[in-house]
Amino acid sequence: HTQSQDFKVADLSLAEFGRKEITLAEHEMPGLMAIRKEYAEAQPLKGARITGSLHMTVQTAVLIETLVALGAQVRWASCNIYSTQDHAAAAIAAAGVPVFAWKGETLEEYWWCTEQALTWPDNPIGGPNMILDDGGDATLLVHKGVEYQKTGELPSADNEELAAVRTLLETSSLDWTGIAAQIRGVTEETTTGVHRLYEMQRDGTLLFPAINVNDAVTKSKFDNKYGCRHSLVDGINRATDTLIGGKTAVICGYGDVGKGCAESLRGQGARVIITEIDPICALQAAMDGYQVTTLDEVVETADVFITTTGNKDIIMASDMAKMKHQAIVGNIGHFDNEIDMAGLAKIPGIVKDEIKPQVHTWTFPDGKVIIVLSEGRLLNLGNATGHPSFVMSNSFADQTLAQIELFTKPDEYPTGVYVLPKHLDEKVARLHLDALGVKLTTLRPEQAEYIGVQVEGPYKPDHYRY
Ligand code: NAI
Repeated sequence: HTQSQDFKVADLSLAEFGRKEITLAEHEMPGLMAIRKEYAEAQPLKGARITGSLHMTVQTAVLIETLVALGAQVRWASCNIYSTQDHAAAAIAAAGVPVFAWKGETLEEYWWCTEQALTWPDNPIGGPNMILDDGGDATLLVHKGVEYQKTGELPSADNEELAAVRTLLETSSLDWTGIAAQIRGVTEETTTGVHRLYEMQRDGTLLFPAINVNDAVTKSKFDNKYGCRHSLVDGINRATDTLIGGKTAVICGYGDVGKGCAESLRGQGARVIITEIDPICALQAAMDGYQVTTLDEVVETADVFITTTGNKDIIMASDMAKMKHQAIVGNIGHFDNEIDMAGLAKIPGIVKDEIKPQVHTWTFPDGKVIIVLSEGRLLNLGNATGHPSFVMSNSFADQTLAQIELFTKPDEYPTGVYVLPKHLDEKVARLHLDALGVKLTTLRPEQAEYIGVQVEGPYKPDHYRY
């Protein structure tokens, strides 16, 4: 690892390769590049000290450099132990941005990286004034730190993740309460992180305002869906190179991610089966032409199993024991608790073998093998490179506009959880039309009046679902 100054990455010599891919990505990220141009002079993020905790990929590098171009100082960590693209991290470090991320961190290293991203050496309190989060881990660490300082109580060590947080807090010298007091807000990228924020708001424990970027239409209806439609098969292919056509694939969950995943595998010619707990999503899946049934019904016969629920305990060890030889099991939801990896490891006589990084076979005592991708962590980032640039340009344009909102208008956002105002959501979509050759029809004033909107938008009421 290279850590000569204020960063830690796998290999700084990958910086040139990273820079070349960042340059290619910039052209595919018209939303971010347009925002750079629009705000170059105004510098709305001048004075912002942004701690980012989000997969350190090529696309994220373009986001980081956009924040910097708008005046921000930035420190970064990845939000998953397997998701960093080492060449992207190297290029960002070489450009002088403190980044702490490499592919294949241990959990202890992961939380150390998050702490480094939250540590601002030249600030008297030592922390950021903004967080840009994906899954909520940076936000969680600050909240757990404050709780520890207040009550002297460490987080319980009943899961691996929290045990690592506990270890970190025991040794950390950061002033968590002081840091939390300086934070103007957090912008949160994903469904699972947003869940955590609404929970804290409900319990009255949320310490600063938050923008739920995930539920911007140009985020969840694009990144979660079309992004996964691209990167799910990419992950399965890079991991296994197995032919998908003709196989039976089970997708657990038919939310935004599940919809994209189902389409992705159907596009490859798989017979796709959905499991759901929500009658609305189950009905949607049925109307889209998929069989909807329970895992129990198909666990012995399907070839591929993908979890997309953001919920826990979806595929248990006892399920995996029933699967057929060389069934493929993977998760694309944010956390690794959808597949019971701990239970799998506890099956007497089971043998785990590494085929290559992030691809493991598990051999049962009777000789049956299943293939588990990325140890149950999100496989599109573990086995492939996540979503492509164009779709991330939408998500990250939302992120950037959300950062500007919270940083420049603190009075308009008292502590609570907000979504991006609709005019900004529409703006982000608009920024991506030219690149795809889309010609938009302009509303005539009398038409606008007839449907009760302004010619320049917003075009839909807040309850509209797209
Ligand atoms: P969502 O809430 O739209 O969809 C999840 C679906 O799973 C819901 O329809 C829910 O009813 C269903 N579900 C819950 N428990 C279930 C169970 N026991 N069995 C079957 N279905 C069940 O959420 P979304 O946006 O689709 O996100 C899902 C997860 O993916 C989240 O953890 C999110 O953070 C993550 N995510 C991952 C991305 C990636 O690139 N890997 C990209 C975007 C989101």
